[in-house]
Amino acid sequence: MWCIDSPPKVNLYLRIVRRREDGYHELETVFQTVDGGDRLCAREAEGLSLACDTPGIPVDEHNLVLRAALLLRDRRPEVAARGAALELSKRTPVGAGMGGGSADAAAALRLLEALWNAPLGPEEATEMAAALGSDVPFFLMGGTALARGRGETLGPLPTPRLWLVLCKPETGVGTPWAYRQWNPGSGGGASVEEFTQALAGGDPGCVAALLRNDLEPGVEAGVPQIRAAREWLLRAGALGARMTGSGSAVFGIARDEEHARRIAAQPDPPGVTWVARCLTAAEARLSPYRSGSREAPRAGEEPA
Ligand code: C5P
Repeated sequence: MWCIDSPPKVNLYLRIVRRREDGYHELETVFQTVDGGDRLCAREAEGLSLACDTPGIPVDEHNLVLRAALLLRDRRPEVAARGAALELSKRTPVGAGMGGGSADAAAALRLLEALWNAPLGPEEATEMAAALGSDVPFFLMGGTALARGRGETLGPLPTPRLWLVLCKPETGVGTPWAYRQWNPGSGGGASVEEFTQALAGGDPGCVAALLRNDLEPGVEAGVPQIRAAREWLLRAGALGARMTGSGSAVFGIARDEEHARRIAAQPDPPGVTWVARCLTAAEARLSPYRSGSREAPRAGEEPA
């Protein structure tokens, strides 16, 4: 059996440049992988199947893991007849804006490359990832990246050593709905140049002061728990707090790990709350490993 871990992301910065003719939105966004995430395992089998440990997650072709498998078989005649029994162990919350499904799709491509011994060239992998979803190419790369276009045009940035506190309200958000709430007149804030400069400086306070998400006002108007989560994080001592991606999870910036743990321990959070660390591209690398002999550490964790 082969397994792979798929750490999720936050958007430290998200500016909507414009709505495009094709219905997508032109973005300037800074993706950042954070530790934790799902685990996907696969063994050779007749046909393709997916099982998931979390109720409510589709295990048919609506799931990006199966879509990735079908796409790989479609593009690679030599694996067209191969099968796999896939098992997804879900940790990243759904409808959170943390790219859980997209991370799983990128992980599925890497896992099945290994299981079926069908390595993809970098361009082929990126093209297939972009066909699966706007932020799937980022998960092939991981770490910190400035993305443009619909999110698929990527350039690496140095990773800030930041500690975050995540808070995910119970209500989840669907991405198409979130984009429909965007109003060109709302949002605003720092330019992407100002933000990436602050990020390169590495000072958590400077980064926190320039956080931006143009989707936040519209989504927050429909999901008031998001504002409650931001206000809770700020009251608990976060240096700044923003919704990630299309929501509903919110992250707060802490001064350091100890500060993050103190924030997360405050009473009555308006959702599930946890501490996360920003991962470099090397730490976030999607590396399939053979499983069965050990319980492997999750992405960003120290080996036991
Ligand atoms: O690309 P993906 O399938 O992840 O996008 C899901 C939906 O999110 C799209 O159908 C679109 O409604 C919205 N979206 C957008 N602009 C983007 C990315 C996503 O409008 N840049």
